[in-house]
Amino acid sequence: MAEPIRVVVTGAAGQIAYSLLYQLAKGDVFGDQQPLSLHLLDIEPMMGVLNGVVMELQDCALPLLREVIPTADPAVAFKDVDAAFLVGAMPRKEGMERKDLLAANVKIFKAQGQALDQHAKKTVKVLVVGNPANTNSLICSKYAPSIPPANFSAMTRLDQNRAQAQIANRLGVPVNNVSKVTIWGNHSSTQFPDVANATVVTANGETKSVKDAINDQAWLNGDFISTVQKRGAAVIAARKLSSAMSAAKAAADHMKDWWNGTSAESWVSMAVFSDGSYNTPVGIMYSFPVRCSKGQWEIVQGLTIDEFAREKLDLTSKELIEEREEALAVCQD
Ligand code: NAD
Ligand code: LMR
Repeated sequence: MAEPIRVVVTGAAGQIAYSLLYQLAKGDVFGDQQPLSLHLLDIEPMMGVLNGVVMELQDCALPLLREVIPTADPAVAFKDVDAAFLVGAMPRKEGMERKDLLAANVKIFKAQGQALDQHAKKTVKVLVVGNPANTNSLICSKYAPSIPPANFSAMTRLDQNRAQAQIANRLGVPVNNVSKVTIWGNHSSTQFPDVANATVVTANGETKSVKDAINDQAWLNGDFISTVQKRGAAVIAARKLSSAMSAAKAAADHMKDWWNGTSAESWVSMAVFSDGSYNTPVGIMYSFPVRCSKGQWEIVQGLTIDEFAREKLDLTSKELIEEREEALAVCQD
């Protein structure tokens, strides 16, 4: 068996972590031959709750889980970590947009960037889940200059999973029959869920474009997009709490694909630093279609962007630039 890797989860006493930790500890992300030490960070007042989570992890009796380190000290939490799930942040309440959390949350990611810079391995892969995820990830990277910017990402996989599920549900096929769905831009209501290149294996086994299989462009350009854009708010309105089970599953999917690689035929969506691809502004954390291999992501090039898509890509870019300016101002306070 391999040597254990070190994986940190922040917000470890919270809702998302409660679903995520089990998936990590049983091998769903790093593989069933990869032992791991889990570093669990939360704030001091949550240490009692966190100890309950530690007891439950022990009681799961999972053979890959070699060590659990609960702590409120970022220096301990980030020490020598190979992978970081930055979940700990305030969730939004009904009626808020995710960017309304910026002032409250962005300083957490500044401090954790500094702690990663000082204590983590330089090869650490960082996934930011805490909202507003794209901008928090940007700030985290800025304050961790010794770690390559390509090692930072933010989660739009939940949006991708939601989009795939909407299409699969409409066509009455299993969700993994649907591929090449793209989420562009921000994990916010300006994101663009795009099925222009998506394909589906239909109930009778034929591979078709989603466009042809659905055969309802008005739905694809209208309700489909707005359902995905507003799904987080719909879950909050129903549950009175933000999504947690589906968010944890998406975080596991994101890191699993980054760590192990994606298929050459399809792609996944990850928010990563823009290099200007698809005429997006350089230096914002933007969700693109990516393929991963040997632990590195690469933006899928050459997709056609029509006028409808162009407008949507630009709108979400504009929001990300505004968020970046606000976040930089908050961090300078
Ligand atoms: P939660 O309130 O249940 O848990 C958050 C935990 O973070 C709490 O235990 C809290 O004590 C802890 N925390 C706060 N500050 C911290 C710090 N400085 N260091 C370490 N831990 C800290 O919230 P949740 O439902 O688990 O959601 C967490 C975040 O994830 C929210 O910001 C939410 O909006 C976001 N989220 C993102 C997505 C996405 O798709 N990107 C999906 C769902 C939720
Ligand atoms: C989600 O998409 O469910 C999360 O980002 C939580 C939220 O605030 O919507």
